[in-house]
Amino acid sequence: MTASQQVIAIFLVTYVVAVSSGPSIVTYIFGDSLTEVGNNNYLQLSLAKSNFPYYGIDYKGGMATGRFTNGRTIGDIISEKLGIPSPPPFLSLSLNDDAILKGVNYASGGAGILNDTGIYFISSFNLLCFSYSYCLITVTGNKSCGLFSGSNDYVNNYLQPFLADGQQYTHDEFIGLLISTLGEQLTRLHQLGARKMVFHGLGPLGCIPSQRVKSKRGQCLKQVNEWVIQFNSRVQKLLDALNRNLYGAKLAFADTYSAVWDLIHNPTAYGFKISNTSCCNVDTSVGGLCLPNSKLCKNRTEYVFWDAFHPSDAANVVLANKFFSILFPEPHPPSPTPLPHY
Ligand SMILES: *[C@@H]1O[C@H](CO)[C@@H](O)[C@H](O)[C@H]1NC(C)=O
Ligand SMILES: *[C@@H]1O[C@H](CO)[C@@H](O)[C@H](O)[C@H]1NC(C)=O
Ligand SMILES: *[C@@H]1O[C@H](CO)[C@@H](O)[C@H](O)[C@H]1NC(C)=O
Ligand SMILES: *[C@@H]1O[C@H](CO)[C@@H](O)[C@H](O)[C@H]1NC(C)=O
Repeated sequence: MTASQQVIAIFLVTYVVAVSSGPSIVTYIFGDSLTEVGNNNYLQLSLAKSNFPYYGIDYKGGMATGRFTNGRTIGDIISEKLGIPSPPPFLSLSLNDDAILKGVNYASGGAGILNDTGIYFISSFNLLCFSYSYCLITVTGNKSCGLFSGSNDYVNNYLQPFLADGQQYTHDEFIGLLISTLGEQLTRLHQLGARKMVFHGLGPLGCIPSQRVKSKRGQCLKQVNEWVIQFNSRVQKLLDALNRNLYGAKLAFADTYSAVWDLIHNPTAYGFKISNTSCCNVDTSVGGLCLPNSKLCKNRTEYVFWDAFHPSDAANVVLANKFFSILFPEPHPPSPTPLPHY
């Protein structure tokens, strides 16, 4: 077992920020492996990498880029729908690069709300990149921000039997820690000038292949889904409280649970055949990533999941369409950007 086999990434955490500045739309994407486009390639010690085949097999050129799927991420597809290029990884830009003003992707596989979540992967940078002062440029000046985090805090932290948090805290304590930390992060973003922020709730993590294999007959783990629902409901309460207490704050919650649940439970309605196991047959291996020696399914468009954690390109298209209609309820990118679901 190589070090990279220990890596896990994430499921549904995406973060798309659309900022309308005049006629052009600039997107800033925060998140974890669901939206990462190659930041971790620049982190020498990180184990959360996907820069090897068969990742990217359906991406342009058929090459691995650091995206944790066979093709495009949800962020790529949303950018396509906006008619703009998918923003480059933050770590590929130099600090005085003007490109940073045209949209940046900060997503990093393995990142979470808690600092010690990233520790599992040795180095994933903090979602809000507080340790990279340069990131702050993107969140000052009343810009809209989208936040999507928390999956890794469960899948790669609390639910990992060998990590401390699952042993140290009851679920009530753990959720309290997540919510208070998230509250501090959102307050900090507000202090930096962010006013409009959208938090995408977690999907049914108990139904991703890496969790299903822990059950007797491959069912969803009910306890995990119950925790996710509790987390989502606590986040909504937190956002309400912050909206009351922070001047000018417009924080919104976007529900992704039901969209993902529906895709997993009615795959044929979306043109899929299989949603309870991954195309790259890696559900039971410790890592769950699609390594070069893995066996691929015959038809990658029939599977909702690419590896044990991440949706396939085809599933990302379905999810991106759903999230897009939440982010942009109007026919097409309007200006100024309308606020989703407040
Ligand atoms: C998490 O990391 C950030 C950046 O290094 C630091 O400012 C913060 O205090 C840390 N939080 C905790 C709870 O350790
Ligand atoms: C997935 O579901 C199908 C049909 O219900 C079943 O035959 C198969 O055993 C399941 N696979 C796994 C890995 O649970
Ligand atoms: C930012 O928002 C505050 C209130 O939320 C407002 O007073 C201020 O004028 C805004 N600044 C810009 C540059 O829009
Ligand atoms: C793959 O599956 C899709 C959806 O079921 C189907 O439309 C397509 O024809 C299949 N492709 C191949 C090469 O079998």
